[in-house]
Amino acid sequence: MKGVVLAGGTGSRLFPLTKITNKHLLPIYAKPMVFYPIETLVEAGVEEIMIVTGGRNSGDFLRLLANGKQFGLKHLDYTYQEGEGGIADALSLTEHFADGDKICVILGDNLIEGSIRDAVEAFRKQERGARILLKEVEDAERFGVAEVQGDRILGIEEKPKNPKSNYAVTGIYMYDATVYDKVRQLVPSRRGELEITDVNNAYIQEGTMSFSYLDGWWTDAGTFESLLRAANLVAQTKKHTETLESVA
Ligand code: DAU
Repeated sequence: MKGVVLAGGTGSRLFPLTKITNKHLLPIYAKPMVFYPIETLVEAGVEEIMIVTGGRNSGDFLRLLANGKQFGLKHLDYTYQEGEGGIADALSLTEHFADGDKICVILGDNLIEGSIRDAVEAFRKQERGARILLKEVEDAERFGVAEVQGDRILGIEEKPKNPKSNYAVTGIYMYDATVYDKVRQLVPSRRGELEITDVNNAYIQEGTMSFSYLDGWWTDAGTFESLLRAANLVAQTKKHTETLESVA
Protein backbone atom coordinates (compact mmCIF):
# COMPACT_ATOMS: atom_id res chain seq x y z
CA MET A 1 0.00 0.00 0.00
CA LYS A 2 1.18 3.50 -0.80
CA GLY A 3 0.87 6.52 1.49
CA VAL A 4 -0.25 10.07 0.82
CA VAL A 5 0.15 13.09 3.12
CA LEU A 6 -2.06 16.03 2.14
CA ALA A 7 -0.36 19.29 3.09
CA GLY A 8 -1.85 21.83 0.69
CA GLY A 9 -4.36 24.58 1.48
CA THR A 10 -3.68 28.06 2.82
CA GLY A 11 -4.14 27.50 6.56
CA SER A 12 -6.26 30.65 6.67
CA ARG A 13 -7.65 29.76 10.10
CA LEU A 14 -4.12 30.16 11.51
CA PHE A 15 -3.46 33.61 10.05
CA PRO A 16 -1.03 35.43 10.65
CA LEU A 17 1.04 32.33 11.62
CA THR A 18 0.58 31.06 8.06
CA LYS A 19 1.28 34.36 6.31
CA ILE A 20 4.91 33.48 5.64
CA THR A 21 4.94 29.73 5.98
CA ASN A 22 2.83 26.65 5.28
CA LYS A 23 0.65 25.43 8.18
CA HIS A 24 2.27 21.97 8.11
CA LEU A 25 5.72 23.42 8.77
CA LEU A 26 4.64 25.06 12.05
CA PRO A 27 6.05 23.51 15.22
CA ILE A 28 4.10 21.01 17.30
CA TYR A 29 6.22 20.64 20.44
CA ALA A 30 9.62 19.45 19.18
CA LYS A 31 8.91 18.79 15.50
CA PRO A 32 7.30 20.41 12.46
CA MET A 33 3.64 19.37 12.09
CA VAL A 34 4.16 17.34 8.90
CA PHE A 35 6.59 14.96 10.67
CA TYR A 36 3.77 13.40 12.68
CA PRO A 37 1.55 12.12 9.82
CA ILE A 38 4.64 10.85 7.98
CA GLU A 39 5.71 8.96 11.11
CA THR A 40 2.20 7.52 11.46
CA LEU A 41 2.40 6.04 7.95
CA VAL A 42 5.96 4.75 8.39
CA GLU A 43 5.07 3.10 11.72
CA ALA A 44 2.22 1.29 9.93
CA GLY A 45 4.68 -0.19 7.44
CA VAL A 46 3.98 2.17 4.52
CA GLU A 47 7.24 2.79 2.65
CA GLU A 48 6.28 4.69 -0.50
CA ILE A 49 4.92 8.12 0.38
CA MET A 50 3.84 11.17 -1.63
CA ILE A 51 3.51 14.63 -0.05
CA VAL A 52 0.99 16.96 -1.68
CA THR A 53 1.78 20.56 -0.91
CA GLY A 54 1.05 23.99 -2.34
CA GLY A 55 1.36 27.74 -1.85
CA ARG A 56 4.45 29.92 -1.83
CA ASN A 57 6.47 27.91 0.69
CA SER A 58 6.33 24.51 -0.96
CA GLY A 59 10.11 24.52 -1.57
CA ASP A 60 10.63 24.43 2.20
CA PHE A 61 9.17 20.91 2.31
CA LEU A 62 12.00 19.65 0.12
CA ARG A 63 14.59 21.37 2.33
CA LEU A 64 13.00 19.95 5.47
CA LEU A 65 12.11 16.42 4.39
CA ALA A 66 14.60 15.82 1.53
CA ASN A 67 14.48 12.15 0.50
CA GLY A 68 12.86 10.96 3.72
CA LYS A 69 16.02 9.36 5.14
CA GLN A 70 15.29 10.66 8.66
CA PHE A 71 12.07 8.59 8.62
CA GLY A 72 13.87 5.47 7.43
CA LEU A 73 12.58 5.91 3.87
CA LYS A 74 14.61 5.46 0.70
CA HIS A 75 12.70 8.11 -1.19
CA LEU A 76 9.88 10.65 -0.97
CA ASP A 77 7.58 11.81 -3.78
CA TYR A 78 6.16 15.32 -3.97
CA THR A 79 3.46 17.02 -5.96
CA TYR A 80 2.03 20.54 -6.04
CA GLN A 81 -1.61 21.59 -5.64
CA GLU A 82 -2.48 24.87 -7.34
CA GLY A 83 -4.99 26.86 -5.30
CA GLU A 84 -6.96 25.11 -2.56
CA GLY A 85 -9.66 23.15 -4.29
CA GLY A 86 -10.28 20.89 -1.32
CA ILE A 87 -8.99 17.64 0.13
CA ALA A 88 -10.40 15.53 -2.72
CA ASP A 89 -8.80 17.89 -5.27
CA ALA A 90 -5.43 17.44 -3.55
CA LEU A 91 -5.95 13.68 -3.58
CA SER A 92 -6.70 13.64 -7.31
CA LEU A 93 -3.10 14.73 -7.94
CA THR A 94 -1.76 11.41 -6.61
CA GLU A 95 -3.35 9.12 -9.23
CA HIS A 96 -0.17 8.68 -11.23
CA PHE A 97 1.83 7.93 -8.05
CA ALA A 98 -0.74 5.36 -6.81
CA ASP A 99 -0.58 3.60 -10.17
CA GLY A 100 -3.46 1.22 -9.39
CA ASP A 101 -2.35 0.37 -5.81
CA LYS A 102 -4.40 0.88 -2.66
CA ILE A 103 -3.56 4.07 -0.77
CA CYS A 104 -3.59 5.24 2.83
CA VAL A 105 -4.21 9.00 2.98
CA ILE A 106 -3.54 11.16 6.03
CA LEU A 107 -4.24 14.85 6.40
CA GLY A 108 -1.08 16.81 7.16
CA ASP A 109 -2.62 18.39 10.26
CA ASN A 110 -3.81 15.16 11.89
CA LEU A 111 -1.88 13.75 14.87
CA ILE A 112 -2.56 10.54 16.76
CA GLU A 113 -1.22 8.96 19.92
CA GLY A 114 -1.37 5.35 18.84
CA SER A 115 -0.94 3.30 15.71
CA ILE A 116 -2.95 2.66 12.53
CA ARG A 117 -1.05 -0.55 11.84
CA ASP A 118 -4.03 -2.87 12.54
CA ALA A 119 -6.38 -0.82 10.34
CA VAL A 120 -3.81 -0.78 7.52
CA GLU A 121 -3.39 -4.57 7.85
CA ALA A 122 -7.18 -5.04 7.79
CA PHE A 123 -7.40 -2.90 4.65
CA ARG A 124 -4.61 -4.85 2.97
CA LYS A 125 -6.85 -7.92 3.34
CA GLN A 126 -10.03 -6.08 2.27
CA GLU A 127 -10.77 -7.01 -1.34
CA ARG A 128 -12.06 -3.62 -2.43
CA GLY A 129 -13.62 -0.37 -1.24
CA ALA A 130 -12.48 1.97 1.49
CA ARG A 131 -11.83 2.10 5.22
CA ILE A 132 -12.01 5.08 7.59
CA LEU A 133 -11.14 5.59 11.23
CA LEU A 134 -13.65 7.08 13.64
CA LYS A 135 -13.07 8.77 16.97
CA GLU A 136 -15.57 9.80 19.60
CA VAL A 137 -15.30 13.56 20.26
CA GLU A 138 -17.13 16.26 22.20
CA ASP A 139 -17.17 18.83 19.37
CA ALA A 140 -18.41 16.69 16.47
CA GLU A 141 -19.85 19.70 14.60
CA ARG A 142 -16.24 20.70 13.68
CA PHE A 143 -15.75 17.53 11.62
CA GLY A 144 -17.20 15.03 9.21
CA VAL A 145 -19.63 13.04 11.39
CA ALA A 146 -20.58 9.39 10.80
CA GLU A 147 -23.99 7.91 11.45
CA VAL A 148 -23.25 4.38 12.62
CA GLN A 149 -25.58 1.41 13.13
CA GLY A 150 -23.79 -1.63 14.56
CA ASP A 151 -20.99 -2.42 12.15
CA ARG A 152 -22.43 -0.28 9.32
CA ILE A 153 -21.97 3.36 8.47
CA LEU A 154 -25.19 4.83 7.09
CA GLY A 155 -23.73 8.16 5.97
CA ILE A 156 -21.38 11.04 6.77
CA GLU A 157 -22.31 14.70 7.15
CA GLU A 158 -19.66 17.40 6.83
CA LYS A 159 -19.70 19.79 9.80
CA PRO A 160 -23.39 19.33 10.66
CA LYS A 161 -25.07 21.85 12.99
CA ASN A 162 -26.85 18.99 14.76
CA PRO A 163 -24.53 15.95 14.57
CA LYS A 164 -26.28 12.56 14.43
CA SER A 165 -23.49 11.01 16.55
CA ASN A 166 -20.30 11.90 18.40
CA TYR A 167 -18.16 9.94 15.95
CA ALA A 168 -15.84 12.23 13.99
CA VAL A 169 -14.32 10.94 10.76
CA THR A 170 -10.60 11.35 11.35
CA GLY A 171 -8.36 12.52 8.53
CA ILE A 172 -7.03 9.01 7.86
CA TYR A 173 -8.60 7.33 4.85
CA MET A 174 -7.81 4.11 3.00
CA TYR A 175 -8.98 3.71 -0.58
CA ASP A 176 -8.82 1.30 -3.50
CA ALA A 177 -7.92 2.57 -6.97
CA THR A 178 -11.55 3.49 -7.79
CA VAL A 179 -11.18 6.57 -5.59
CA TYR A 180 -9.94 8.64 -8.52
CA ASP A 181 -13.05 7.86 -10.61
CA LYS A 182 -15.15 8.86 -7.61
CA VAL A 183 -13.29 12.18 -7.30
CA ARG A 184 -13.94 12.84 -11.01
CA GLN A 185 -17.70 12.60 -10.34
CA LEU A 186 -17.64 15.28 -7.63
CA VAL A 187 -19.03 18.78 -7.86
CA PRO A 188 -17.68 21.58 -5.62
CA SER A 189 -19.51 22.08 -2.32
CA ARG A 190 -20.97 25.36 -1.03
CA ARG A 191 -17.50 26.30 0.25
CA GLY A 192 -16.19 25.78 -3.28
CA GLU A 193 -14.16 22.63 -2.49
CA LEU A 194 -14.15 19.02 -3.65
CA GLU A 195 -15.10 17.35 -0.36
CA ILE A 196 -13.57 14.12 0.92
CA THR A 197 -16.89 13.47 2.68
CA ASP A 198 -18.57 13.17 -0.75
CA VAL A 199 -15.95 10.60 -1.76
CA ASN A 200 -16.60 8.63 1.44
CA ASN A 201 -20.37 8.79 0.92
CA ALA A 202 -19.89 7.40 -2.60
CA TYR A 203 -18.19 4.31 -1.07
CA ILE A 204 -20.98 4.06 1.54
CA GLN A 205 -23.63 4.10 -1.20
CA GLU A 206 -21.69 1.43 -3.06
CA GLY A 207 -21.69 -0.69 0.12
CA THR A 208 -17.90 -1.00 0.26
CA MET A 209 -17.01 1.29 3.18
CA SER A 210 -15.65 -0.31 6.35
CA PHE A 211 -14.40 1.41 9.48
CA SER A 212 -12.48 0.99 12.73
CA TYR A 213 -12.41 3.03 15.91
CA LEU A 214 -9.10 4.77 16.58
CA ASP A 215 -7.45 4.08 19.94
CA GLY A 216 -5.63 6.79 21.91
CA TRP A 217 -5.97 10.51 21.40
CA TRP A 218 -6.52 12.15 18.01
CA THR A 219 -6.43 15.82 17.12
CA ASP A 220 -6.23 18.11 14.14
CA ALA A 221 -4.08 21.25 14.42
CA GLY A 222 -5.71 23.69 12.04
CA THR A 223 -7.05 26.22 14.54
CA PHE A 224 -5.30 28.10 17.36
CA GLU A 225 -7.05 25.92 19.96
CA SER A 226 -6.24 22.62 18.27
CA LEU A 227 -2.65 23.71 17.50
CA LEU A 228 -2.07 24.30 21.21
CA ARG A 229 -3.95 21.13 22.13
CA ALA A 230 -1.78 19.09 19.73
CA ALA A 231 1.43 20.44 21.27
CA ASN A 232 0.19 19.71 24.80
CA LEU A 233 -0.89 16.17 23.90
CA VAL A 234 2.49 15.41 22.28
CA ALA A 235 4.35 16.86 25.28
CA GLN A 236 2.26 14.89 27.82
CA THR A 237 2.67 11.66 25.87
CA LYS A 238 6.44 12.18 25.68
CA LYS A 239 6.61 12.81 29.44
CA HIS A 240 4.47 9.74 30.13
CA THR A 241 6.66 7.53 27.89
CA GLU A 242 9.85 8.85 29.54
CA THR A 243 8.41 8.13 33.00
CA LEU A 244 7.53 4.56 31.95
CA GLU A 245 11.03 4.09 30.48
CA SER A 246 12.72 5.38 33.66
CA VAL A 247 10.88 2.89 35.90
CA ALA A 248 11.39 -0.04 33.53
O1 DAU B 1 -9.39 16.59 10.56
C1 DAU B 1 -10.44 15.80 10.11
C2 DAU B 1 -11.42 16.59 9.26
O2 DAU B 1 -10.69 17.13 8.13
C3 DAU B 1 -12.60 15.70 8.79
O3 DAU B 1 -13.40 15.31 9.88
C4 DAU B 1 -13.46 16.44 7.77
O4 DAU B 1 -14.45 15.59 7.28
C5 DAU B 1 -12.59 16.95 6.61
O5 DAU B 1 -13.35 17.70 5.69
C6 DAU B 1 -11.45 17.82 7.15
O6 DAU B 1 -12.02 19.01 7.69
P1 DAU B 1 -11.27 20.43 7.80
O7 DAU B 1 -12.23 21.51 7.47
O8 DAU B 1 -10.64 20.49 9.14
O9 DAU B 1 -10.15 20.35 6.68
P2 DAU B 1 -9.11 21.49 6.29
O10 DAU B 1 -9.69 22.38 5.24
O11 DAU B 1 -8.59 22.14 7.56
O12 DAU B 1 -7.94 20.66 5.64
C7 DAU B 1 -7.28 19.63 6.36
C8 DAU B 1 -6.00 19.27 5.66
O13 DAU B 1 -6.24 18.85 4.31
C9 DAU B 1 -4.99 20.38 5.56
O14 DAU B 1 -4.19 20.39 6.73
C10 DAU B 1 -4.24 20.08 4.29
C11 DAU B 1 -5.21 19.28 3.45
N1 DAU B 1 -5.77 20.10 2.33
C12 DAU B 1 -6.90 20.87 2.53
C13 DAU B 1 -7.43 21.64 1.50
C14 DAU B 1 -8.68 22.47 1.68
C15 DAU B 1 -5.12 20.11 1.09
O15 DAU B 1 -4.08 19.42 0.93
N2 DAU B 1 -5.64 20.88 0.08
C16 DAU B 1 -6.77 21.64 0.21
O16 DAU B 1 -7.20 22.29 -0.77
